[in-house]
Amino acid sequence: MSRREPIVAIDGPVGAGKSVAARELARELGYSYLNTGAMYRAVAIAAREAGVSPDDANVEARLAPVLAAIEIKFDGEKIMLNGHDVSAKKDEPDIGELASRFSALGPVRARMRELQRAAGADGGVVMEGRDIGTAIFPDAEFKFFLVADVNTRARRRFDELKKKGASITEHEVLEQMIERDRRDSGRELAPLKRADDAIEIDSTKLSIDAVVAAMKAKINARINAAKDLKRA
Ligand code: DC
Repeated sequence: MSRREPIVAIDGPVGAGKSVAARELARELGYSYLNTGAMYRAVAIAAREAGVSPDDANVEARLAPVLAAIEIKFDGEKIMLNGHDVSAKKDEPDIGELASRFSALGPVRARMRELQRAAGADGGVVMEGRDIGTAIFPDAEFKFFLVADVNTRARRRFDELKKKGASITEHEVLEQMIERDRRDSGRELAPLKRADDAIEIDSTKLSIDAVVAAMKAKINARINAAKDLKRA
């Protein structure tokens, strides 16, 4: 029986630098890259298009057909939802907020777990999100938990949104971030938290290159230690 290739799980709050670091690490390792936050954002878009709100009394029943039919594909930098390119839509601030709210629902998490486990079944993947090391692949060979000071995260997010032409103040970004952290960490199902065996990296004062270098150093150290053990 062939064992799968290793899995690298990167979890952490919004704005800690997960996406850029994960994409670059995947490139350097020659692994594929999966942004699971983008998948929750696709769910939010699909739900909104179907007229379903997280405030609906019967939200789970109304979401069932949306989740059953959902098809999410990544094509390079693009994300395709049911055959349509939703790359631009997924970055709308409202969609991040909606994704966070829908992601607290059991059927949404169950469907995403199914799709994410299928996508990582062969390994050779860097997967980033909130619950990869705790719930999706608790047996991932390498787990990182990326954190950063909330003001730094808000500043990074604000700079990103400004570049995209969004009209929002840095203070508003900070307030939304605090609320999103609270919701993602406080929910009952698969909340954002560090897996016991995850390595925490604080990116507050680090460049993305330094974060990737730190991750690679940890990965190589473990691989070399395993090789030494085999030889001994
Ligand atoms: O990473 P992001 O900001 O694009 O994620 C959007 C929301 O999706 C986030 O606020 C919580 C949810 N999410 C999740 O619950 N589990 C994941 N593995 C990834 C994202």
